[in-house]
Amino acid sequence: MQKNREQWNSKIGFILAASGSAIGLGNIWKFPYIAGENGGASFILIYLFCIAIIGLPVLIAEILLGRTTQRNPVGAFRKLTESKFWIGVGGMGVVSGFLILSFYAVIAGWAIGYIVEALVGNFSHFSTGAVASEHFNSLVTDIPWIVGYFTLFMIITMLFVYLGIQKGIERGSKIMMPILLVLLVILMIRGITLEGSEEGLAFLLNPDWSKIDAQAILIALGHAFFTLSLGMGAMLTYGSYMSKKDNVASAALQIVILDTVIALIAGVAIFTSVFAVGLDPSAGPGLIFHTIPAVFAKMPGGYYFSILFFSLLSIAALTSAMSLLEVVVAFFVDDLGWNRKKATIAMGFVVFLLGLPSALSFNILADYTLFGKTFFDIIDFLASNIFLPLGGFLIAIFVGYVWGFDKVLANLREGAENLFDNYPYVITTWKFFLKYLSPVLIFIVLLHSLGIIDLIF
Ligand code: PHE
Repeated sequence: MQKNREQWNSKIGFILAASGSAIGLGNIWKFPYIAGENGGASFILIYLFCIAIIGLPVLIAEILLGRTTQRNPVGAFRKLTESKFWIGVGGMGVVSGFLILSFYAVIAGWAIGYIVEALVGNFSHFSTGAVASEHFNSLVTDIPWIVGYFTLFMIITMLFVYLGIQKGIERGSKIMMPILLVLLVILMIRGITLEGSEEGLAFLLNPDWSKIDAQAILIALGHAFFTLSLGMGAMLTYGSYMSKKDNVASAALQIVILDTVIALIAGVAIFTSVFAVGLDPSAGPGLIFHTIPAVFAKMPGGYYFSILFFSLLSIAALTSAMSLLEVVVAFFVDDLGWNRKKATIAMGFVVFLLGLPSALSFNILADYTLFGKTFFDIIDFLASNIFLPLGGFLIAIFVGYVWGFDKVLANLREGAENLFDNYPYVITTWKFFLKYLSPVLIFIVLLHSLGIIDLIF
């Protein structure tokens, strides 16, 4: 048995930490560019639908697994079953934590590096997106730059995890999440008040259904996982520090709402700006790094807004990275009896080593590819497109069928008595989504990711 396992100090502490995990590069870097590539408003509607019918039900299941067992992903399954298979599913979560953090921290490092670029005024002469792209390329091929900021980001992440749940992650999230929200609202207001911003708003509000095909639907579904940190046990691990007095279902709903609202606000901030200066909304993964500096260069007060923007991006990435490292550390602490400090330093270093080839994928290792993918691309693809949906699928199956649904309900009821007694249909709906709808839909995404089906509907 474990002695003195930490718990969140308050329910709001948990909500902010878990929202901090959810809100990250996914919302600010990825969501705008995939929405931009897939038709804007129509894509966003499909994404919202996926979040509601798959994201929320699986999120409740994942937090519940953690809260019930008070363990990391491996320990959680070990507590509920003897089956090696299911314990292995937990192990896949821990491995995903290593993998995702290793490449995530590279991009997060760019965000920190860009704060410095903005501070020293390097963006002021960016007259076009092309100049900004050129600058971006010169930075990522500069090995000390890319490795240096990656290392710095890892050290900051480790510091929070080292300090523990209450003093590190909870306190950090309580300070950083409100700052993030304020920065984002400032940027949104700036975007909306720019001349020509209507076009950006129209892009976000007027659906273009002609752009929606099977591919777009699958991207929306896959992103629902990534953005909610689902499928690898980050939410399970955070849930394991939650008190049995708190309501899992309502906490999950609040996390989903916060994550979604932030993605939408980020979309408004970015598209109004991009359209106002006439840049292309479908610029792809480089959208914010290639266009935002150029956008801000042309804008009154752009110097300050670019500092704010990349600070915002760094904070968002940091609170997500903490949750990734915490999954790994919790496993070493719970299951192998290490102390938190030793586990944080050792595992942070392992992640660093694993991330080095990802950082070098943009320069000296750029030509070493497998199926046209660099090391960075392979790790990203494996973790985000395969391990996350697979993990989410298996969590839905485990909670829906293997754990025993009467036990699931008994545990979910703790802290949610009012919901169970007064709104029983909410629980019935959750059960239906979790057992039938989510697994089938996730399975389709997964087959698509593996290239087994190229849907033709
Ligand atoms: N949800 C985070 C984001 O949107 C990424 C993440 C995925 C974090 C999985 C933890 C686990 O950026």
